[in-house]
Amino acid sequence: MNVIRFSDLCASGKAAGQRVFIRADLNVPQADDGSITEDTRVRASVPCIQMALAAGAAVMVTSHLGRPTEGEFKAEDSLAPVAKRLGELLGREVPLVANWVDGVTVAPGQVVLLENCRVNKGEKKNNEELARKMAQLCDIYVNDAFGTAHRAEGTTYGIAQFAPIACAGPLLAAEIDAISKALANPKRPLAAIVAGSKVSTKLTILKSLAQNVDQLIVGGGIANTFMLAAGLNIGKSLAEADLVGEAQAVIEAMKARGAEVPIPTDVVTAKAFAADAPATVKKATEVADDDMILDIGPETAAKLAEQLKAAGTIVWNGPVGVFEFDQFANGTKVIAQAIAESSAFSIAGGGDTLAAIAKYGIEKQVGYISTGGGAFLEILEGKTLPAFEILAKRAAV
Ligand code: 3PG
Repeated sequence: MNVIRFSDLCASGKAAGQRVFIRADLNVPQADDGSITEDTRVRASVPCIQMALAAGAAVMVTSHLGRPTEGEFKAEDSLAPVAKRLGELLGREVPLVANWVDGVTVAPGQVVLLENCRVNKGEKKNNEELARKMAQLCDIYVNDAFGTAHRAEGTTYGIAQFAPIACAGPLLAAEIDAISKALANPKRPLAAIVAGSKVSTKLTILKSLAQNVDQLIVGGGIANTFMLAAGLNIGKSLAEADLVGEAQAVIEAMKARGAEVPIPTDVVTAKAFAADAPATVKKATEVADDDMILDIGPETAAKLAEQLKAAGTIVWNGPVGVFEFDQFANGTKVIAQAIAESSAFSIAGGGDTLAAIAKYGIEKQVGYISTGGGAFLEILEGKTLPAFEILAKRAAV
């Protein structure tokens, strides 16, 4: 995808002395007292800000936090905890500016954080008047908010239409590059792991990937529905019987391309969904009516691991079992280790997937870990995200 890159503008001196407006995704999880419980997104926003400061720009940064009611600022909507953390990471104070739409005072070499942009009236619906006002605040608009790239809002879309220059920050650019490498020009075989509780939430992804990938590995409740589609008994496992036809269609679409959806040959079952439920390994053909399948079995995990080690590219979204309970974690652990050991380029995204990556300590062996939740899923659905679309449009004129 052709977009203007902020790094190029900085390298060529075009950002010096300019007012730069950075839309970051600083939507972090918080404890009841407002403290940040996980700061990956704040850390991921630092390189762009440092790049802008080093280039001599006057830097404004904003983000949404949560889903506040527009026009009704409440203390819990404030980016104050983020300003504090950002200040620690940048080693300088980051002043927080409220009511900023009509004007911001910031000098070259300075950075300010503009309060929660979703409190501004018109942000969600991308109101044109708001977008034009925000565009007037800057000479260069930088979108570095991949996590919000699937939203066409005032700070992710409208401002990009009207700012003198609209470009991609280093985080957004890295996401674009990793996604293109994995899905547009993949080294084959291309294997995708799509796991989670329900086929219904990932049906569009499964259908889209079925047109592209060589192996579509399903896990979790999704795999149960595919096992039903393959004529297997799954006992009282979580599944969606009404989507068996859709699962069959995905299997057929893959077969027609000479590709496959590997169906588990063994599983780990329990009689109850509980942290202390005893686990039993069974052949996939021997699941009893009162069994719940909570993980893939060791034989299936080993087979999938071989496929992943031989892959050219791996896309990973979702743990294949209930990895939070140790007795049902082996499948996800084996998959994680196979990805870590594979020479394939791998890209992973989604909250549970990141938790699994952290649990097995393979962060450094995954080619790219996406900062996007919903945005990453929409990419897998084959959609062009609004933030990418407008930046590409602006790069073309
Ligand atoms: C996220 O947390 O996935 C992003 O920040 C987007 O948030 P939203 O779903 O509230 O738009």
